[in-house]
Amino acid sequence: MRILSGVQPSGAPHLGNFLGAMKRHVAYQTHSESFIFIANFHALTSVRDGEKLRQLTHELAVDYLAIGLDPKKTTFFRQSDIKEHLELMWILSCIAPMGLMERCHAWKDAKAKGKKEATIGLFTYPVLMAADILLYKPDKVPVGKDQKQHVEVARDLAEKFNQTFGEVFKLPEPDIDENVKTVIGIDGEKMSKSYNNTIPLFGDDAALKKAVMSIVTDSTPLEKPKDPEKCNVFKLYRYFATPQEIANLRDKYIAGGFGYGDAKKTLLQKLHEVLDPYRQKKVELEKKFDYVEEVLKDGANRARSIAQKTLEEVREKVGI
Ligand code: ADP
Ligand code: TRP
Repeated sequence: MRILSGVQPSGAPHLGNFLGAMKRHVAYQTHSESFIFIANFHALTSVRDGEKLRQLTHELAVDYLAIGLDPKKTTFFRQSDIKEHLELMWILSCIAPMGLMERCHAWKDAKAKGKKEATIGLFTYPVLMAADILLYKPDKVPVGKDQKQHVEVARDLAEKFNQTFGEVFKLPEPDIDENVKTVIGIDGEKMSKSYNNTIPLFGDDAALKKAVMSIVTDSTPLEKPKDPEKCNVFKLYRYFATPQEIANLRDKYIAGGFGYGDAKKTLLQKLHEVLDPYRQKKVELEKKFDYVEEVLKDGANRARSIAQKTLEEVREKVGI
């Protein structure tokens, strides 16, 4: 089975990105043929500082390697190194119905909330994403729930292309992990860079502590029993702890005499246990700039040969 996915280098990754996307991407490398890329063309829809984008792109590569991506097992590359993505995007945009694109929520949100400038790039973002996917003919695209609609657009465009010009593309399936489909942030809403409610994946000790201590809880007094299922601290703990550890913490909530401050300390300790090895690895990789760039170049060479082959089939079919 072949999988493909990408993440935008639009800011430091948080635990939502880690659980909903990055960790799952890495897990696939043991049993699938994996393609993972850094979507820096997509990030241009929000990052408007060249030096910063270059730095975020390199850093996201470091982050993936730090959490265990093995470039020998995963084809790991930078989107902008493969110009074929842009050529296919244009060809697909010539068959992409306006109505389908107008229904995409990234665009609808930008227009409604005015948080992001409603540019042509943001409007055609799902067409670029469809090109990213279809060039590699993956069976599955592991993403968070918010990206499901975009994978469905890729599927619709693949189907339309195949029907119009003849069979080239495989229809991809979105692959969503039901257990982590929406990781909550410190306020109990979806964790997102745009909501200022994140817990950083690679923050230093102080940043991690500050985020955990700011998790919103209710005002049940320390001595009273508490409902773990309604507590944001418990919900976050569940993503990282073993079933036994989860059961132990649940008992403490129900027994009473256990405050939210204690729960936060338990979560903080767990996060250190899980994340510290990644943080150490990141420190090592930060000293190896050339190695990381070499990894991306190598991945691009492998990816390019596949992308070129698909694009040749496409050009043949459309008459270019
Ligand atoms: P953000 O909302 O912080 O800007 P992105 O849109 O860049 O995050 O998401 C990158 C990847 O991480 C996507 O695959 C997305 O589905 C996943 N993701 C982001 N936030 C969450 C979350 N809170 N829970 C689960 N997955 C998430
Ligand atoms: N749009 C995705 C996100 O914001 C990133 C992305 C770009 C992607 N191209 C892709 C994900 C192709 C999966 C497949 O997270």
